[in-house]
Amino acid sequence: MNFTLTQDQQQIQQLAREFAEKDLLPGVLERDESSEFPLEAFKKLGKTGIYGLPYPTEVGGLGGSYLSYILAVEEISKVDASFGIAFSVDTSLYGGSIMNSSAPEAIKKKFLAPITYGEKIGSFGLTEHTAGSDAAGQRTVATKDGDSYIINGSKCFNTNGPLADYTVIYCLTDPALGTKGMAAFVVEKGTPGFTVGKVENKMGIRSAHVSDMHLDNVRVPAENMIAQPGEGFKLAMKTLDGGRIGVAAQGLGIAKGAFEIARKYMMERQQFGKPICKQQYLAFKMAELQTKIQAAELLLYKAAICKEEGQPYTVPAAMAKMTCTNVAMEVTTEAVQLLGGNGYMKDYHVERMMRDAKITQIYEGTNEIQKLVISGQIFR
Ligand code: CAA
Repeated sequence: MNFTLTQDQQQIQQLAREFAEKDLLPGVLERDESSEFPLEAFKKLGKTGIYGLPYPTEVGGLGGSYLSYILAVEEISKVDASFGIAFSVDTSLYGGSIMNSSAPEAIKKKFLAPITYGEKIGSFGLTEHTAGSDAAGQRTVATKDGDSYIINGSKCFNTNGPLADYTVIYCLTDPALGTKGMAAFVVEKGTPGFTVGKVENKMGIRSAHVSDMHLDNVRVPAENMIAQPGEGFKLAMKTLDGGRIGVAAQGLGIAKGAFEIARKYMMERQQFGKPICKQQYLAFKMAELQTKIQAAELLLYKAAICKEEGQPYTVPAAMAKMTCTNVAMEVTTEAVQLLGGNGYMKDYHVERMMRDAKITQIYEGTNEIQKLVISGQIFR
């Protein structure tokens, strides 16, 4: 086993770290207030090709490793978890849907290459008001009409929804068959009848844009069908396995970001005539948190490596997602406590990180769903 990152991986990590410090940190508190997405910064990072990092060059990606992509999401999320999820959904949920699909290579290239360099943005439309944890409870329907399909229905909680040029819509071509009748289509922004609905006002990740998407007699060419009827549910599940590794990276980034703020604060903050890190109770708390962060990191990097080496990664992804996001919640909550009254104030960032951490335990499969996936494998 090798615990050393390759030179390429270290370079990506460094690039993402510098970008986060220089382009995301200034203004992150203001964006949390205003819920404004940093579109210019998103496009700027895109020029490096990072959003297509893990995908093969033949379909317009950069041909890098999944671990490199994960390291980048982690670095970004240390500073700005809203940007982290926009990146992760673009790459692993939208890009993953295209890559994992059985679509012809030309179609893959058509819909993947433009997101690699941030020229276009992608989103993932699976969840509906009747289909959250029970992803099979879909009501959106696609009906064949000549060389096209007509789609009707609604999606909710679409991260990047209002920004997206391309959205993968999972829907039923034969509702009587349930998941066996599920397909998936790429629907382009501006297609008549495809509209952005309610934009959510959220507790955390406030500058990520999340909305309902409505489909009212949306005509989509049959060539945009990336999963044939019957293949859609499996495509969604496989894609979510990769997405969950991205959310785990987001969670780990939040945890590491909050830990570092607490560490520096504890070395400076004087109480009872000494820095508070000299209080053994508090220092031991940090020792426990750092150990949990490093354990979570091992699960995360293992899941990413399993994926890139073609080993089964459903369970490693679920374990990494559950562990990293629980650690994110614990570390951020403790960081607020360690910073005391200051921790509760917005200027110190950790209260925002605590609010951002909460959603990581919920989206891309709640941590209860991750336990379902893990226990299902134990008792096969
Ligand atoms: N990979 C490939 N195929 C899979 C799979 C996987 N990981 N998991 C299941 N399947 C296949 C099964 O093998 C089965 O195939 P057969 O019919 O051929 O046997 C089929 O899919 C159905 O499987 P299940 O019976 O296990 O399906 P289920 O209805 O019981 O659901 C579930 C299983 C794990 C609970 C699933 O519904 C699930 O993951 N729910 C959570 C959904 C979720 O994560 N939503 C998040 C949406 S995105 C988001 O959060 C917003 C955002 O923008 C960030």
